[in-house]
Amino acid sequence: MKRKIITLSIVFLFLFCFQSSHALKLTGSWHRSTNWAFLTSFCFSKTDTGYGNLTWTFNSDQTFVLSIYNDSSNSWNKAYKSDAHCDALVEDSQKNEQTKPGKPGSYLFKDLDTYKMYYFALSDCLNDELELQKMDVHIWNGFNSQLSQEFSCEDQGMLGLVVFYFIAFFILTCIQSFIVFKLLKGNNFQPISRLYYFVLIFRTLGIFFVMIHFGSYAQNGKGSISLEVFGEILSTISTITFMTIIILVAKGWSISVQYIIGKSLILVLMGVFLVISVILIIAAYIVLDKGQHYYIFEEVPGVLYQIVRLVIMSIFLYYLRKTYLLEQDSVKRKFYQKFGILFTIWFLYLPLISLFSLGISGVYRKKVTQAFYYTFDFLILAGMSWFLWPSVSKKYFTYDTANLLTSENTGFKSNTEWDAFDDEAEEENSESSSSQTTSNSNKNESDVL
Ligand SMILES: *[C@@H]1O[C@H](CO)[C@@H](O)[C@H](O)[C@H]1NC(C)=O
Ligand SMILES: *[C@@H]1O[C@H](CO)[C@@H](O)[C@H](O)[C@H]1NC(C)=O
Repeated sequence: MKRKIITLSIVFLFLFCFQSSHALKLTGSWHRSTNWAFLTSFCFSKTDTGYGNLTWTFNSDQTFVLSIYNDSSNSWNKAYKSDAHCDALVEDSQKNEQTKPGKPGSYLFKDLDTYKMYYFALSDCLNDELELQKMDVHIWNGFNSQLSQEFSCEDQGMLGLVVFYFIAFFILTCIQSFIVFKLLKGNNFQPISRLYYFVLIFRTLGIFFVMIHFGSYAQNGKGSISLEVFGEILSTISTITFMTIIILVAKGWSISVQYIIGKSLILVLMGVFLVISVILIIAAYIVLDKGQHYYIFEEVPGVLYQIVRLVIMSIFLYYLRKTYLLEQDSVKRKFYQKFGILFTIWFLYLPLISLFSLGISGVYRKKVTQAFYYTFDFLILAGMSWFLWPSVSKKYFTYDTANLLTSENTGFKSNTEWDAFDDEAEEENSESSSSQTTSNSNKNESDVL
């Protein structure tokens, strides 16, 4: 099922994304059915050399005007999406360059501020449409370092960020692989650990592909949007799978109960959410309008994806509350409490950070949100690794769940083994002197949860 989704997504991507070009080196043919059209946007920053360059060559039978707009209210914000006549739109620009078919041209941006967003549009007001056989547009910041030249302000620093977190996730995956190896040897590779290992590998691969995109972007100013989107899809699959794990745990899986009633319902439901999320993420990239936004979570599909997250969170809290009220063991009740608080924060952080980031300048939005996003995800996955560490998980995972997901075999373990586990839990109870008080406070809080 998952493999099919991935294959479908790849086909989808190759069909749609290879045509869209958000890159700062624009090549290929171009067609618009209007006589004035948005070409691209670029943010110049204060650079070592003090300038930013723009070069172009347009091969066409038409002669175009290349208009450069700044982000003020009487320039781009007035022209874009307005119904004004072509001539009026060209008037709104800060600078107009007459281009000649097949002849290279260039423009120099000087006196640059900390950052300044520019928008570029092509027009031919004497015609009804724009037709270009071939174009070559290159826009870059005049940094001395080759690694940062190609990046517009909102993407500066992204390469460093993804490299850092790729390494972090890679190390985490290696550590987990070591644990998995030990678990396999001890024949104790539980479904939760299995699923979690899958989550970790997909998350790491996801960042890997995003990293490849930014790395190649630094080289050639084009990168591969397809790879970036593919990376985000892998991350989304990883995230939804992770949510499935924590919902199953919230249902008491392998902690309070050995066998979950309604497991298939959850798996089907989460499968549906997975498909919806992947479609929304792809859609967010496709509809991303660089004339207005820099970042996928500012577009409708991106917002819908966050709403899906909130819906899943509600399901999680619903099940968690139910399990919590049924659970008698105070150690486990305490565990459910912490579990609930931690993961509610985790569910809420993406919508909250996105909301918060609306308050800061658009050019920082993507960076800041992504930095928080990677950090939180890394921390929660590192926490999960710790939690699944054999000596730690023994405390909470009462039941051997080896066969739960893979087969329909619901065979219960022998009572003696259960008793052994229960004894262990009881010992821990009596060891903790505050167990009585916690169970009391738990009772009070059960109304709140
Ligand atoms: C950018 O423009 C400046 C000024 O014309 C020029 O000196 C510089 O060589 C250009 N950079 C490149 C890479 O062509
Ligand atoms: C931005 O463009 C507008 C419209 O062309 C122009 O009047 C204004 O001076 C420009 N602002 C800056 C800072 O260049």
